[in-house]
Amino acid sequence: MNDLREKYIELIGAAADEAALEDLRVQAVGKKGEISLQMRSLGKMSPEERQIMGPKLNALKDEINSALAAKKAALADAALNERLQSEWLDVTLPGRTRRQGSIHPVSQVWEECTAIFADMGFSVAEGPQIEKDWYNFDALNIPGHHPARAEMDTFYMNRAEGDDRPPHVLRTHTSPVQIRSMEAQGAPLRIICPGRVYRADYDQTHTPMFHQVEGLAIDKNISMANLKWVLEEFFSAYFGTTVKTRFRASHFPFTEPSAEVDIQCQWKDGSVVVGEGDDWLEVLGSGMVHPKVLAAGGIDPDEWQGFAFGMGIDRIAMLKYGIPDLRAFFDSDLRWLRHYGFASLDVPTIRGGLSR
Ligand code: PHE
Repeated sequence: MNDLREKYIELIGAAADEAALEDLRVQAVGKKGEISLQMRSLGKMSPEERQIMGPKLNALKDEINSALAAKKAALADAALNERLQSEWLDVTLPGRTRRQGSIHPVSQVWEECTAIFADMGFSVAEGPQIEKDWYNFDALNIPGHHPARAEMDTFYMNRAEGDDRPPHVLRTHTSPVQIRSMEAQGAPLRIICPGRVYRADYDQTHTPMFHQVEGLAIDKNISMANLKWVLEEFFSAYFGTTVKTRFRASHFPFTEPSAEVDIQCQWKDGSVVVGEGDDWLEVLGSGMVHPKVLAAGGIDPDEWQGFAFGMGIDRIAMLKYGIPDLRAFFDSDLRWLRHYGFASLDVPTIRGGLSR
Protein backbone atom coordinates (compact mmCIF):
# COMPACT_ATOMS: atom_id res chain seq x y z
CA MET A 1 0.00 0.00 0.00
CA ASN A 2 2.88 2.29 0.79
CA ASP A 3 4.32 1.62 -2.65
CA LEU A 4 1.00 2.54 -4.22
CA ARG A 5 0.75 5.71 -2.20
CA GLU A 6 4.29 6.83 -3.05
CA LYS A 7 3.86 5.97 -6.72
CA TYR A 8 0.63 7.92 -7.17
CA ILE A 9 1.57 10.90 -4.99
CA GLU A 10 4.71 11.27 -7.06
CA LEU A 11 2.92 10.81 -10.39
CA ILE A 12 0.17 13.27 -9.41
CA GLY A 13 2.77 15.80 -8.31
CA ALA A 14 4.49 15.51 -11.69
CA ALA A 15 1.32 15.60 -13.85
CA ALA A 16 1.73 18.27 -16.49
CA ASP A 17 -1.91 19.00 -17.27
CA GLU A 18 -5.51 18.07 -16.56
CA ALA A 19 -5.52 15.28 -19.15
CA ALA A 20 -2.52 13.54 -17.50
CA LEU A 21 -4.22 13.96 -14.16
CA GLU A 22 -7.42 12.35 -15.44
CA ASP A 23 -5.41 9.36 -16.75
CA LEU A 24 -3.89 8.95 -13.31
CA ARG A 25 -7.29 9.13 -11.65
CA VAL A 26 -8.56 6.30 -13.89
CA GLN A 27 -5.40 4.28 -13.27
CA ALA A 28 -5.63 4.62 -9.49
CA VAL A 29 -9.23 5.02 -8.39
CA GLY A 30 -11.18 4.43 -11.62
CA LYS A 31 -13.47 1.39 -11.83
CA LYS A 32 -10.59 -0.85 -12.80
CA GLY A 33 -7.92 1.22 -11.13
CA GLU A 34 -5.22 -0.28 -8.99
CA ILE A 35 -6.66 0.89 -5.71
CA SER A 36 -10.20 -0.06 -6.71
CA LEU A 37 -9.02 -3.58 -7.55
CA GLN A 38 -7.41 -3.84 -4.16
CA MET A 39 -10.65 -2.77 -2.54
CA ARG A 40 -12.49 -5.44 -4.46
CA SER A 41 -10.08 -8.03 -3.05
CA LEU A 42 -11.36 -7.13 0.44
CA GLY A 43 -14.21 -9.57 -0.20
CA LYS A 44 -11.84 -12.49 -0.33
CA MET A 45 -10.14 -11.59 2.95
CA SER A 46 -10.88 -13.00 6.36
CA PRO A 47 -12.98 -10.68 8.55
CA GLU A 48 -9.94 -9.92 10.74
CA GLU A 49 -7.81 -8.97 7.75
CA ARG A 50 -10.67 -6.92 6.29
CA GLN A 51 -11.02 -4.96 9.52
CA ILE A 52 -7.45 -3.79 9.21
CA MET A 53 -7.20 -3.44 5.45
CA GLY A 54 -10.62 -1.87 4.83
CA PRO A 55 -9.97 1.45 6.66
CA LYS A 56 -6.39 1.58 5.33
CA LEU A 57 -7.53 1.19 1.75
CA ASN A 58 -10.31 3.76 2.23
CA ALA A 59 -7.81 6.21 3.73
CA LEU A 60 -5.49 5.64 0.78
CA LYS A 61 -8.32 6.22 -1.69
CA ASP A 62 -9.27 9.47 0.11
CA GLU A 63 -5.66 10.60 0.16
CA ILE A 64 -5.27 9.98 -3.58
CA ASN A 65 -8.56 11.72 -4.30
CA SER A 66 -7.59 14.83 -2.36
CA ALA A 67 -4.12 14.83 -3.97
CA LEU A 68 -5.87 14.72 -7.37
CA ALA A 69 -8.21 17.57 -6.37
CA ALA A 70 -5.36 19.70 -5.00
CA LYS A 71 -3.28 19.15 -8.11
CA LYS A 72 -6.27 19.95 -10.32
CA ALA A 73 -6.79 23.27 -8.50
CA ALA A 74 -3.07 24.06 -8.74
CA LEU A 75 -3.08 23.34 -12.48
CA ALA A 76 -6.15 25.56 -12.97
CA ASP A 77 -4.46 28.39 -11.03
CA ALA A 78 -1.32 28.06 -13.09
CA ALA A 79 -3.34 28.05 -16.32
CA LEU A 80 -5.20 31.18 -15.23
CA ASN A 81 -1.98 32.92 -14.28
CA GLU A 82 -0.50 32.08 -17.62
CA ARG A 83 -3.54 33.51 -19.41
CA LEU A 84 -3.42 36.62 -17.27
CA GLN A 85 0.22 37.08 -18.24
CA SER A 86 -0.16 36.42 -21.94
CA GLU A 87 -3.61 37.91 -22.57
CA TRP A 88 -3.26 41.21 -20.70
CA LEU A 89 -5.37 44.10 -21.83
CA ASP A 90 -4.60 47.80 -21.48
CA VAL A 91 -7.89 49.05 -20.10
CA THR A 92 -6.73 52.65 -20.51
CA LEU A 93 -6.83 52.33 -24.30
CA PRO A 94 -9.73 54.20 -25.95
CA GLY A 95 -12.83 52.07 -26.44
CA ARG A 96 -13.28 53.27 -29.97
CA THR A 97 -10.65 53.61 -32.62
CA ARG A 98 -8.98 56.96 -32.39
CA ARG A 99 -9.89 59.48 -35.06
CA GLN A 100 -8.66 62.96 -35.69
CA GLY A 101 -11.10 65.42 -34.12
CA SER A 102 -11.33 69.06 -35.06
CA ILE A 103 -11.94 72.40 -33.41
CA HIS A 104 -15.34 73.96 -34.11
CA PRO A 105 -15.17 77.30 -35.96
CA VAL A 106 -16.91 79.01 -33.03
CA SER A 107 -14.22 77.80 -30.62
CA GLN A 108 -11.54 78.83 -33.09
CA VAL A 109 -12.93 82.35 -33.56
CA TRP A 110 -13.54 82.66 -29.80
CA GLU A 111 -9.82 81.95 -29.27
CA GLU A 112 -8.85 84.32 -32.08
CA CYS A 113 -10.88 87.14 -30.51
CA THR A 114 -9.35 86.41 -27.12
CA ALA A 115 -5.82 86.46 -28.57
CA ILE A 116 -6.31 89.77 -30.39
CA PHE A 117 -8.01 91.61 -27.52
CA ALA A 118 -5.56 90.17 -24.99
CA ASP A 119 -2.81 91.72 -27.05
CA MET A 120 -4.54 95.09 -26.57
CA GLY A 121 -4.65 94.62 -22.80
CA PHE A 122 -8.16 93.19 -22.40
CA SER A 123 -8.64 90.31 -19.99
CA VAL A 124 -11.38 87.72 -20.24
CA ALA A 125 -14.39 87.94 -17.91
CA GLU A 126 -17.23 85.49 -17.50
CA GLY A 127 -20.77 85.39 -16.18
CA PRO A 128 -23.61 82.88 -15.84
CA GLN A 129 -25.79 81.90 -18.78
CA ILE A 130 -28.80 81.64 -16.49
CA GLU A 131 -28.85 85.25 -15.39
CA LYS A 132 -30.77 87.38 -12.94
CA ASP A 133 -33.32 89.57 -14.64
CA TRP A 134 -31.65 92.50 -12.89
CA TYR A 135 -28.23 91.95 -14.51
CA ASN A 136 -29.67 91.17 -17.94
CA PHE A 137 -32.07 94.14 -18.01
CA ASP A 138 -32.54 96.57 -15.10
CA ALA A 139 -28.87 97.25 -14.39
CA LEU A 140 -28.43 97.91 -18.10
CA ASN A 141 -31.08 100.61 -17.99
CA ILE A 142 -33.76 98.40 -19.48
CA PRO A 143 -36.67 98.80 -17.02
CA GLY A 144 -39.58 96.37 -16.69
CA HIS A 145 -41.85 98.00 -19.26
CA HIS A 146 -39.11 98.62 -21.82
CA PRO A 147 -39.87 97.22 -25.30
CA ALA A 148 -36.31 95.82 -25.56
CA ARG A 149 -37.39 93.07 -23.17
CA ALA A 150 -39.90 91.86 -25.72
CA GLU A 151 -37.64 92.63 -28.69
CA MET A 152 -34.98 90.35 -27.36
CA ASP A 153 -37.34 87.35 -27.44
CA THR A 154 -36.23 86.35 -23.99
CA PHE A 155 -36.37 82.79 -22.62
CA TYR A 156 -37.62 83.02 -19.04
CA MET A 157 -36.98 80.33 -16.43
CA ASN A 158 -39.98 79.05 -14.43
CA ARG A 159 -40.44 80.07 -10.82
CA ALA A 160 -42.17 77.83 -8.33
CA GLU A 161 -45.91 78.44 -8.00
CA GLY A 162 -46.57 81.40 -5.72
CA ASP A 163 -42.99 82.74 -5.99
CA ASP A 164 -43.46 86.31 -7.15
CA ARG A 165 -39.84 87.25 -7.59
CA PRO A 166 -38.88 88.13 -11.17
CA PRO A 167 -37.85 84.99 -13.09
CA HIS A 168 -34.27 84.30 -14.09
CA VAL A 169 -33.59 84.56 -17.82
CA LEU A 170 -31.27 82.84 -20.25
CA ARG A 171 -29.08 85.87 -20.87
CA THR A 172 -30.05 87.56 -24.13
CA HIS A 173 -26.64 89.18 -24.52
CA THR A 174 -23.22 89.23 -22.86
CA SER A 175 -23.81 92.78 -21.57
CA PRO A 176 -24.77 91.63 -18.04
CA VAL A 177 -21.10 90.69 -17.64
CA GLN A 178 -20.34 94.43 -17.90
CA ILE A 179 -22.15 94.94 -14.60
CA ARG A 180 -20.67 91.86 -12.97
CA SER A 181 -17.15 92.94 -13.95
CA MET A 182 -17.67 96.49 -12.68
CA GLU A 183 -18.92 95.09 -9.37
CA ALA A 184 -16.05 92.64 -9.07
CA GLN A 185 -13.17 94.81 -10.28
CA GLY A 186 -14.20 98.47 -10.20
CA ALA A 187 -12.49 101.02 -12.43
CA PRO A 188 -10.30 101.29 -14.44
CA LEU A 189 -11.42 98.20 -16.37
CA ARG A 190 -10.64 96.56 -19.66
CA ILE A 191 -12.39 93.25 -20.33
CA ILE A 192 -13.92 91.17 -23.05
CA CYS A 193 -16.51 88.51 -22.43
CA PRO A 194 -16.99 85.81 -25.04
CA GLY A 195 -19.98 83.59 -24.30
CA ARG A 196 -23.25 81.94 -25.18
CA VAL A 197 -26.46 83.94 -25.38
CA TYR A 198 -30.07 82.96 -26.06
CA ARG A 199 -33.03 84.40 -27.95
CA ALA A 200 -36.21 82.77 -29.25
CA ASP A 201 -35.43 83.17 -32.93
CA TYR A 202 -34.71 80.66 -35.69
CA ASP A 203 -33.90 81.12 -39.39
CA GLN A 204 -30.88 81.04 -41.70
CA THR A 205 -29.09 83.77 -39.76
CA HIS A 206 -30.58 83.22 -36.27
CA THR A 207 -30.37 80.31 -33.83
CA PRO A 208 -31.90 80.23 -30.32
CA MET A 209 -28.40 79.96 -28.89
CA PHE A 210 -25.53 81.91 -30.37
CA HIS A 211 -22.28 83.54 -29.27
CA GLN A 212 -21.26 87.10 -28.58
CA VAL A 213 -18.11 88.79 -27.43
CA GLU A 214 -18.68 91.79 -25.22
CA GLY A 215 -16.03 94.47 -24.83
CA LEU A 216 -15.78 97.05 -22.06
CA ALA A 217 -13.11 99.67 -21.38
CA ILE A 218 -13.48 102.14 -18.52
CA ASP A 219 -11.02 104.83 -17.57
CA LYS A 220 -10.84 108.58 -16.91
CA ASN A 221 -10.95 109.76 -20.48
CA ILE A 222 -11.97 106.92 -22.78
CA SER A 223 -13.76 108.18 -25.88
CA MET A 224 -15.51 106.99 -29.06
CA ALA A 225 -12.18 107.53 -30.82
CA ASN A 226 -10.63 104.80 -28.66
CA LEU A 227 -13.56 102.54 -29.52
CA LYS A 228 -13.08 103.09 -33.24
CA TRP A 229 -9.34 102.46 -33.02
CA VAL A 230 -9.75 99.28 -30.98
CA LEU A 231 -12.38 97.92 -33.38
CA GLU A 232 -10.40 98.71 -36.53
CA GLU A 233 -7.31 97.20 -34.96
CA PHE A 234 -9.34 94.13 -34.07
CA PHE A 235 -10.92 93.65 -37.50
CA SER A 236 -7.65 94.19 -39.32
CA ALA A 237 -5.91 91.58 -37.18
CA TYR A 238 -8.86 89.22 -37.42
CA PHE A 239 -9.32 89.42 -41.18
CA GLY A 240 -5.61 89.84 -41.88
CA THR A 241 -6.15 92.94 -43.96
CA THR A 242 -6.87 96.60 -43.25
CA VAL A 243 -10.59 96.89 -42.55
CA LYS A 244 -12.42 100.24 -42.43
CA THR A 245 -15.39 100.67 -40.11
CA ARG A 246 -18.47 102.83 -40.45
CA PHE A 247 -20.32 104.07 -37.38
CA ARG A 248 -24.07 104.61 -37.73
CA ALA A 249 -25.99 106.41 -34.98
CA SER A 250 -28.25 103.95 -33.21
CA HIS A 251 -29.93 103.35 -29.88
CA PHE A 252 -29.24 101.00 -26.99
CA PRO A 253 -30.59 101.71 -23.50
CA PHE A 254 -27.17 100.99 -21.98
CA THR A 255 -25.03 103.27 -24.15
CA GLU A 256 -25.20 106.97 -24.94
CA PRO A 257 -24.32 107.85 -27.63
CA SER A 258 -24.81 104.50 -29.38
CA ALA A 259 -23.55 103.30 -32.73
CA GLU A 260 -23.98 100.30 -34.92
CA VAL A 261 -20.73 99.43 -36.60
CA ASP A 262 -20.36 98.19 -40.18
CA ILE A 263 -17.23 96.82 -41.78
CA GLN A 264 -16.12 97.50 -45.32
CA CYS A 265 -16.82 94.66 -47.74
CA GLN A 266 -17.52 93.66 -51.30
CA TRP A 267 -19.78 91.01 -52.80
CA LYS A 268 -18.02 88.69 -55.26
CA ASP A 269 -19.95 85.88 -56.98
CA GLY A 270 -22.48 85.71 -54.20
CA SER A 271 -19.97 85.65 -51.36
CA VAL A 272 -18.63 88.51 -49.32
CA VAL A 273 -15.01 89.69 -49.12
CA VAL A 274 -14.13 91.86 -46.12
CA GLY A 275 -11.71 94.80 -46.35
CA GLU A 276 -12.38 95.64 -50.00
CA GLY A 277 -14.95 97.55 -52.04
CA ASP A 278 -17.60 99.99 -50.91
CA ASP A 279 -20.37 97.89 -49.43
CA TRP A 280 -20.94 97.74 -45.67
CA LEU A 281 -21.92 94.92 -43.39
CA GLU A 282 -23.27 95.39 -39.88
CA VAL A 283 -21.29 93.42 -37.31
CA LEU A 284 -21.82 94.94 -33.88
CA GLY A 285 -23.53 97.34 -31.51
CA SER A 286 -21.55 99.76 -29.39
CA GLY A 287 -21.42 103.09 -27.63
CA MET A 288 -20.32 105.02 -24.58
CA VAL A 289 -21.46 103.30 -21.39
CA HIS A 290 -24.57 105.05 -20.04
CA PRO A 291 -23.95 106.84 -16.71
CA LYS A 292 -26.83 104.87 -15.14
CA VAL A 293 -25.10 101.63 -16.13
CA LEU A 294 -21.82 102.74 -14.53
CA ALA A 295 -23.74 103.66 -11.38
CA ALA A 296 -25.54 100.28 -11.39
CA GLY A 297 -22.12 98.63 -11.49
CA GLY A 298 -20.97 100.72 -8.52
CA ILE A 299 -18.72 103.04 -10.54
CA ASP A 300 -18.96 106.83 -10.16
CA PRO A 301 -20.07 108.23 -13.56
CA ASP A 302 -18.72 111.68 -12.65
CA GLU A 303 -15.23 110.26 -12.40
CA TRP A 304 -15.17 107.47 -15.00
CA GLN A 305 -16.38 106.85 -18.50
CA GLY A 306 -15.97 104.08 -21.05
CA PHE A 307 -17.01 102.34 -24.21
CA ALA A 308 -18.73 99.02 -24.69
CA PHE A 309 -19.50 96.84 -27.66
CA GLY A 310 -21.19 93.54 -28.37
CA MET A 311 -20.33 91.49 -31.44
CA GLY A 312 -21.65 88.22 -32.84
CA ILE A 313 -18.91 85.57 -32.82
CA ASP A 314 -20.82 83.21 -35.12
CA ARG A 315 -21.44 86.05 -37.53
CA ILE A 316 -17.79 87.03 -37.89
CA ALA A 317 -16.89 83.31 -38.14
CA MET A 318 -19.29 82.98 -41.10
CA LEU A 319 -17.74 86.06 -42.71
CA LYS A 320 -14.14 84.97 -42.33
CA TYR A 321 -14.57 81.32 -43.24
CA GLY A 322 -17.29 81.67 -45.87
CA ILE A 323 -19.90 79.62 -44.01
CA PRO A 324 -23.33 80.36 -45.48
CA ASP A 325 -25.84 78.92 -42.96
CA LEU A 326 -25.65 79.64 -39.24
CA ARG A 327 -27.91 76.70 -38.33
CA ALA A 328 -25.30 74.20 -39.55
CA PHE A 329 -23.00 75.45 -36.75
CA PHE A 330 -25.12 73.58 -34.23
CA ASP A 331 -26.20 70.50 -36.20
CA SER A 332 -23.21 68.39 -35.05
CA ASP A 333 -22.92 67.02 -38.57
CA LEU A 334 -19.52 65.30 -38.74
CA ARG A 335 -19.11 66.03 -42.45
CA TRP A 336 -19.58 69.75 -41.75
CA LEU A 337 -17.23 69.63 -38.76
CA ARG A 338 -14.53 67.90 -40.79
CA HIS A 339 -14.91 70.43 -43.57
CA TYR A 340 -14.98 73.62 -41.48
CA GLY A 341 -13.13 72.42 -38.36
CA PHE A 342 -9.59 73.36 -37.40
CA ALA A 343 -6.64 71.19 -36.42
CA SER A 344 -6.57 70.83 -32.67
CA LEU A 345 -3.04 72.14 -32.29
CA ASP A 346 -3.66 75.18 -34.50
CA VAL A 347 -4.02 77.48 -31.49
CA PRO A 348 -4.39 81.06 -32.65
CA THR A 349 -1.91 83.57 -31.24
CA ILE A 350 -0.90 87.03 -32.35
CA ARG A 351 2.76 86.10 -32.90
CA GLY A 352 2.18 82.51 -34.03
CA GLY A 353 -0.48 83.61 -36.46
CA LEU A 354 -4.25 83.47 -36.67
CA SER A 355 -5.85 81.07 -39.10
CA ARG A 356 -6.66 82.62 -42.46
N1 PHE B 1 -25.95 93.97 -26.07
C1 PHE B 1 -26.19 94.46 -27.41
C2 PHE B 1 -26.89 93.37 -28.23
O1 PHE B 1 -26.86 92.25 -27.87
C3 PHE B 1 -24.92 94.85 -28.09
C4 PHE B 1 -24.22 95.98 -27.43
C5 PHE B 1 -23.27 95.74 -26.45
C6 PHE B 1 -24.48 97.28 -27.76
C7 PHE B 1 -22.60 96.77 -25.82
C8 PHE B 1 -23.84 98.33 -27.16
C9 PHE B 1 -22.90 98.08 -26.19
O2 PHE B 1 -27.45 93.65 -29.26
